[in-house]
Amino acid sequence: MLKTVLLGLSVGAVGLALVLPTYAAAPVKIAAVAPIADVAGQIDASIKLLDEYLASNDVYTQNKKKVRTEATIVSVLSQAVVESEEKGSVAWNAAAADVRAGAISIADAKTYDDAKKGLAAVNEAHGGKKGAAASEHEWNKLAKLGAIMDAVQSRSGKIRGGSRKKADSITDAEVAEASGAATVLAVLELAVHEDTHEVKKKEDTPEWQKAAKEFQTQMTATAAAFKKKDMAGAADGWKKGNTACNACHDKFREKE
Ligand code: HEC
Repeated sequence: MLKTVLLGLSVGAVGLALVLPTYAAAPVKIAAVAPIADVAGQIDASIKLLDEYLASNDVYTQNKKKVRTEATIVSVLSQAVVESEEKGSVAWNAAAADVRAGAISIADAKTYDDAKKGLAAVNEAHGGKKGAAASEHEWNKLAKLGAIMDAVQSRSGKIRGGSRKKADSITDAEVAEASGAATVLAVLELAVHEDTHEVKKKEDTPEWQKAAKEFQTQMTATAAAFKKKDMAGAADGWKKGNTACNACHDKFREKE
């Protein structure tokens, strides 16, 4: 009798373990992807752009895709702040999950009013006010893959442009822009790594994740190279990163 009760309990516990969501941490430590201050700097820049694109209904209507792109960047990069081992240096770290939640609602918004509401929530949290958002969130549920790819695309011109400059002529502003763009791409790729829904055959999952990991590694190296004005290193990282984009697209992207 006791035995059956115990058995029942342990079966129950196993059942519960299956039902309770388990949250996978990022595939690598955030500190190995980018310095958290750089990630936070890119979030600040994207929120500033969202303020501009949501200044009025007209501006919003003309910039809907950009709104989705910047909101996608804020949501994925805030997730990195939530999980960072070094987040103490980010003033609003306690509210990072609320920044993320607001950004997700902007990316999903169908109307100007909804987007504005999301932005108000983002700004409040970014100002340090902690809200009710749960800290845990799946990396593969932060944004749609298509939106992440658009965001990747939106920053690639700055890296390409920067990587063609010479060390003695690239300006500090260009260095900041190009390394910031590479930082954004490195973090976005953590979400791509976890979002394997485009992989039709399960045995191909390692190939997907290898391409995403390689891309992230190259963008991490590219961002660091720009900061040192190591232009050969930046150009090399960008070239290798592109090889990873193409490898993944050739294998997994549906031909239109
Ligand atoms: C790990 C795989 C992978 C990597 C790495 C990758 N992509 Fe993609 N990309 C995809 C898949 C899959 C799609 C199709 C997804 C969709 O349309 O929802 C896609 C679609 C796109 C699109 C079209 C977006 C849209 O609106 O449908 C663009 C632009 C793009 N990628 C750019 C890039 C660039 C630029 C890089 C590298 C700098 C890159 N991607 C790296 C897998 C990848």
